[in-house]
Amino acid sequence: MNYCDDSQEVTTPENGVLLAIESSCDETAAAVIDRGLNVLSNVVSSQTALHERFGGVVPELASRAHLSRILPVIDEAIRDAGVALTDLSAVAVVTEPGLVGSLLVGLTAAKALAVVLRVPLVAVNHLEAHLFACRMAAGRDIFPAVGLVVSGGHTNLYDCVDAGRYELLGATIDDAAGEAFDKAARILGLPYPGGPAIEAAAQTGDRSAIVFPRPLLRDDRLDFSFSGLKTAVLYQARGIPGSQKKVPPLTEQRVADLAAGFQEAVVDVLVGKCRQALVRRGYQRLCLGGGVAANSRLRARLAGMAAKTETELFPAPREYCTDNAAMAGIAWERLIRGETAPLDLDVTPGLVRRR
Ligand code: KG4
Ligand code: ZN
Repeated sequence: MNYCDDSQEVTTPENGVLLAIESSCDETAAAVIDRGLNVLSNVVSSQTALHERFGGVVPELASRAHLSRILPVIDEAIRDAGVALTDLSAVAVVTEPGLVGSLLVGLTAAKALAVVLRVPLVAVNHLEAHLFACRMAAGRDIFPAVGLVVSGGHTNLYDCVDAGRYELLGATIDDAAGEAFDKAARILGLPYPGGPAIEAAAQTGDRSAIVFPRPLLRDDRLDFSFSGLKTAVLYQARGIPGSQKKVPPLTEQRVADLAAGFQEAVVDVLVGKCRQALVRRGYQRLCLGGGVAANSRLRARLAGMAAKTETELFPAPREYCTDNAAMAGIAWERLIRGETAPLDLDVTPGLVRRR
């Protein structure tokens, strides 16, 4: 068969199971999801140990690791689900946004399976999948809603009109919130990934001991800026360049106080912007997804805001906040609408979708 021949007849399955593949950054993941959006298996092979000593993801190392892990991960997902490859109705794959080499590994595996099994291929947007984790956990329609995707690469606020229809309301103009957590942790001598490390350190810290700025919080735009906050942490830890003023030593307590103060500033901004977006759109539903959404303080503060403003909060379950393939259940929506992808589908690494 011609590799790029997408005229192959495909049927839209009303039931059955699909395999979803995610390899956009540093997690190699596969999941089997049924038509009722039940997750039959969810396998995630994290590369954290590989990138830890560099303090961030090294793209070339990430794609090589995906290459060696993708087939065993798919195998395990199929086995865990108790299905056979021939039971699959479709293969879904995350194609945007992400690291080009990493995305290509997942896409190539997905295409090979779709061709061999003669099933449709479905393209999934990673950010959309982060938000869809909220819909899957709710077990019912939750849109229209305001959606916040807060991860290592993105801090995006959306008007989620419907599953598959999103309007970008605001985004970070520099660092993503997760990136700021990772950088601040590095400055404080905490391990990578920084989010969970800052959260753990903050537990014994005093969040008002050091008050950090709240960038753009009073600004009308629904955009974010976190790079100044990271610099503020740097100055608190090492002093302002050229200044004679001595900074206190980075004792365990000082690290905890700085972690708590930094976390509170990020959380304040995220909660404030969500509130602004809800008011602006006249919505009373809020979804929260992405790695930083696993943060307990953020979840608690958003829950508090939601309760006060009679807003329904749909946070992604913690295990579906950081990257995984189960959240790609959005592929079922696409499949049912007949939105399958051609076999010459490509990746779109740096996509910022405004729709
Ligand atoms: O969604 P994700 O797994 O990957 C991307 O799509 O970027 O998010 C990873 C990011 C990292 O920056 C990590 O530090 C952050 O999520 N993160 C957290 C927490 N767990 C992960 N940030 C704050 N608190 C956490 N508990
Ligand atoms: Zn992600």
